[in-house]
Amino acid sequence: MKSIFRSDLLAGRVALVTGGGSGIGRGIAEAFLAHGASVGIVGRNVERLNAAAAEMGERCVPAPADVRDPKAVEAALDAVTAALGPIDVVVNSAAGNFLAPAAALSPNGFRTVMDIDANGTFNVCRAAFDRSLRDRGGVVLNVSATLHYAATPLQVHASAAKAAVDAITRTLAVEWGPLGVRVVGIAPGPIDGTEGMSRLAPGDAKERVLGAIPLRRFGRIDEMGTLAVFLVSEGASYISGETVVADGGAWLGTASVWMGG
Ligand code: COA
Repeated sequence: MKSIFRSDLLAGRVALVTGGGSGIGRGIAEAFLAHGASVGIVGRNVERLNAAAAEMGERCVPAPADVRDPKAVEAALDAVTAALGPIDVVVNSAAGNFLAPAAALSPNGFRTVMDIDANGTFNVCRAAFDRSLRDRGGVVLNVSATLHYAATPLQVHASAAKAAVDAITRTLAVEWGPLGVRVVGIAPGPIDGTEGMSRLAPGDAKERVLGAIPLRRFGRIDEMGTLAVFLVSEGASYISGETVVADGGAWLGTASVWMGG
């Protein structure tokens, strides 16, 4: 995929991407690398993380950590800083989700997803602020969702977690804006080839989901990478506190009702 941006758009920038070993996080990491940034990727599956980093080349370093563990997050950020320099772009893409009716979801199931998505995002933002953002400014990009804009049955846990992520995006944009930190988000819709798609739209459900997307196709990982590159670049220098929806119009929710899917 040929980029619409200059290949050196992010030259000299150091990014940290959680969930960077797979899916949308990896797509964002690859897009950053393709535009000249150095990238530390964080994930808890060490083998997958190491393999991904090796494939992505020498400007990419793996830093294994579970984002739920603040100490592990701090150690990962320190390792990335030692290898690549001070971090000025932080992407929170690590997430967990599965389909479960609220009545069958255990408290620990709810807590686990909140912990990965919401606490994990806070842990990483907090550690990056202390290490570099407070003194040098930078950009935080949180990967959210549209689940909570209306209501998404079977995903009370992830909906609550992404609502919290959006609150983090807005609040940190206000608190850290005066220090030169922009905080933005993207809310992807159904993106083909991701673990989320296979978990949330298995088998026949994929066709039904397609019918609810006005653009009549699933999103691509590289499209999320392109959006992320724009949002962390100087092209988006006056955007903060905003979460950009990239879902082919899906969350508007009228396509399958009025146009028969
Ligand atoms: N339905 C209902 N409950 C589920 C579940 C499912 N499909 N999957 C996990 N849970 C529950 C577990 O039963 C457990 O609760 P319990 O202790 O009361 O039984 C709780 O969630 C934690 O599960 P566990 O497997 O111990 O957590 P984990 O930390 O190993 O894994 C998950 C985290 C559950 C979010 C796992 O799905 C994961 O690792 N996901 C990452 C990738 C992903 O989800 N990508 C898509 C993002 S859109």
